[in-house]
Amino acid sequence: MSGRTVRGRLPAGGAVLVTGASSGLGRECALDLENRGFQVLAGVRRDEDGEKLLAESLHGRLHYTVVDITDDASVRAAAEFAERAYGALRGLVNNAGICVPGPLECVDSEQFRRQLDVNVVGHLGVVRAHLPLLRRSRGRIVNVTSGLGKAAVPYLGAYSTAQFAKEALSDALRRELGPSGVRVSVVAPGAILTPIWSKVSAAGEQVLRDAPAGVAERYRASFLAFMEGNGQQALASRTSPEDFARAVARALTDTRPRARYWVGADARRMGRLARLLPDALLDRRFGGITASVGAAGSGAAGAAVPATGASPAGGE
Ligand SMILES: NC(=O)c1ccc[n+]([C@@H]2O[C@H](COP(=O)([O-])OP(=O)(O)OC[C@H]3O[C@@H](n4cnc5c(N)ncnc54)[C@H](OP(=O)(O)O)[C@@H]3O)[C@@H](O)[C@H]2O)c1
Repeated sequence: MSGRTVRGRLPAGGAVLVTGASSGLGRECALDLENRGFQVLAGVRRDEDGEKLLAESLHGRLHYTVVDITDDASVRAAAEFAERAYGALRGLVNNAGICVPGPLECVDSEQFRRQLDVNVVGHLGVVRAHLPLLRRSRGRIVNVTSGLGKAAVPYLGAYSTAQFAKEALSDALRRELGPSGVRVSVVAPGAILTPIWSKVSAAGEQVLRDAPAGVAERYRASFLAFMEGNGQQALASRTSPEDFARAVARALTDTRPRARYWVGADARRMGRLARLLPDALLDRRFGGITASVGAAGSGAAGAAVPATGASPAGGE
């Protein structure tokens, strides 16, 4: 596929940095972009993850850089490495992310800050550090969000806040960078089965453990039922990491990149609902998730997750 011109598409080629490439969507995307003919700089936090990726690379066009996007010195070092290795970047895929689930009353300030630090503040740091390299090739920025960047659901408030913020960051960057020729797109996937789902369960249990006992008990049954429903939704999802990688490749190669690429029917539906439904109807739609949490806080057992329960991924 390298160098082949498809109508409405630019040929693949040039260097792309993908953050969060150690697992899940980032890993798939890094290998896919290499297959398509790009030079790929895979951002990982540990050498052993980089070595694993190198072992899977088929074309010798993939390299890795160790970068924690919440650490400015590490981000600067990655940008210096990219400059030495490639001189310019054709693309930057801001994919790294975590999900801190939990009723907002249970999420403490440190957990909330961490959610925003990784999913929002870190990405702006990566953008700032790499913009000189992107400008040189009129490159592209692809920000990975989710359906929850358009509609916030109960028990995923911290994650939704971060996704909304990343959407706003993307809109502002797209408008600010237009004149310099650097294009900015959002890729918003719905539920896709990746390691994030097991991490989310563990993080949810941790949030409950760290919350004051009385507060945690108020939500426990309803929240755990919600998490269970989400896990099922991820298992049943028909959207694959390959679908995601294809959307990222399109954002990098479409001659006229879109502001937003939805991946999966669930994410697309969520975006449509958020655009069309008034708040009162959205409240009603998501209300079933918390229906069993009494005002007095019994944490009633048997909380049912409605069929419309939204997933951490932004599915619905
Ligand atoms: N899977 C879904 O259903 C879904 C749906 C919608 C949106 N998304 C979004 O897609 C992105 C990728 O998710 P995924 O499902 O592939 O999750 P994943 O398998 O858990 O991968 C997350 C990646 O982010 C990296 N990361 C976390 N904190 C980091 C930091 N401080 N600095 C650098 N890298 C860091 C992780 O590195 P380590 O391995 O070192 O922790 C890992 O490589 C996320 O932004 C997520 O919000 C996922």
